[in-house]
Amino acid sequence: MATGAVVELRRNSSNWKPLVEEMVRIEKKIFPKHESLSRSFDVELKKNNCGLLYYDIDGIIAGYVMYSWPSSVSASITKLAVKEQYRRQGVGEALLKAAIQKCQTRNVQCISLHVDPLRAPAVILYKKYGFEVDDLIKGYYSPDRDAYRMFLQMNAG
Ligand SMILES: CC(C)(COP(=O)(O)OP(=O)(O)OC[C@H]1O[C@@H](n2cnc3c(N)ncnc32)[C@H](O)[C@@H]1OP(=O)(O)O)[C@@H](O)C(=O)NCCC(=O)NCCS
Repeated sequence: MATGAVVELRRNSSNWKPLVEEMVRIEKKIFPKHESLSRSFDVELKKNNCGLLYYDIDGIIAGYVMYSWPSSVSASITKLAVKEQYRRQGVGEALLKAAIQKCQTRNVQCISLHVDPLRAPAVILYKKYGFEVDDLIKGYYSPDRDAYRMFLQMNAG
């Protein structure tokens, strides 16, 4: 297990800019252009209904999760990424769990996400947390890259 902590990125935090710059660098390294948010990362983050949590290990960002709540009914996990050298140490799981908890506090009925079926570790992780594949969307990322749409139904009460 990695020894770090999940931290919420706050808009008024003094180190917002360097943190976001580092996440954009990670985003560029991990995701190909068609899947990358690197060009719109800060735009997304400035939206009122968008949140970001990152995993901090001694001041280093090991990974992050971005989520949003477009309506009072549903939320979505927009992005989850862990730097290669910190994988398989529980970082992705800790981030996903924390993002689900954040969405829960908004009382949404479900959380949705899109993921390339070829990203097996991510699909396994999402299934571990109860997400179910709802649909396969052909050409979602690019003409030859599809996406699973996955849903997590939240328990009432
Ligand atoms: C998917 C990803 C975030 C997982 O992060 P991680 O920190 O390595 O995951 P964890 O160590 O917390 O693993 C949690 C669970 O996920 C699953 N999992 C993670 N990596 C796996 C792998 N390589 N093979 C099989 N299962 C895997 C397992 O169920 C694991 O639980 P277990 O350890 O009890 O078996 C990471 O691999 C990643 O950043 N991948 C590239 C980006 C990506 O695909 N993002 C998702 C789409 S937006």
